[in-house]
Amino acid sequence: MTRIPNFWLGVVIAACLGLACSDRFPDSDSAAMPPAASGPTFKVILTNQGEAEAEEVVIETAATRGQRSYLTYCASCHGDNGGGDGPLSSTLDPTPARHNDGAYMNALSDDHIFQVVKLGGASVGKSPTMAAWGGSLQDDQIRDVIVFVRSLADPPYQP
Ligand code: HEC
Repeated sequence: MTRIPNFWLGVVIAACLGLACSDRFPDSDSAAMPPAASGPTFKVILTNQGEAEAEEVVIETAATRGQRSYLTYCASCHGDNGGGDGPLSSTLDPTPARHNDGAYMNALSDDHIFQVVKLGGASVGKSPTMAAWGGSLQDDQIRDVIVFVRSLADPPYQP
């Protein structure tokens, strides 16, 4: 918690909003938008002495929460960016799905992916080497992982 005068607080918030906006509306000629990411955000607290205090908080999005689970539980096979090229991938037959392959992934429904992740590949007639993650991930964590997986697709996923 830092105490800073009101004037500077305004400057900081204005700068922060400026950054947030430029992230949200990238130049139209910029090539690829990176997957959703969280940035610094300020929570402003007015004390009863009428002083403003600003505290930096990080707002997590579903995609950033999902990415954290993905890197922990999925990337060893599917690769950090869903290329199907994680360190274990070469030992697997069939090879892990490429989550960045929009032509394949975009045709799968959220319900299908949810079931594969929660109950395992065998539950949808796929390889049992795609294990069931329902013991490690809660349902809402699986939904967050799906948001992250969707963000990897090329061509992009359109709900
Ligand atoms: C031990 C390696 C391994 C790990 C770890 C793993 N997977 Fe898989 N996954 C596979 C393999 C192999 C396939 C391909 C199965 C097939 O084609 O029969 C697959 C397929 C999939 C598919 C495609 C299903 C379909 O219908 O084609 C999805 C989606 C998926 N995995 C998501 C995940 C998610 C999310 C995680 C992390 C929670 C994860 N996987 C962790 C090996 C893994």
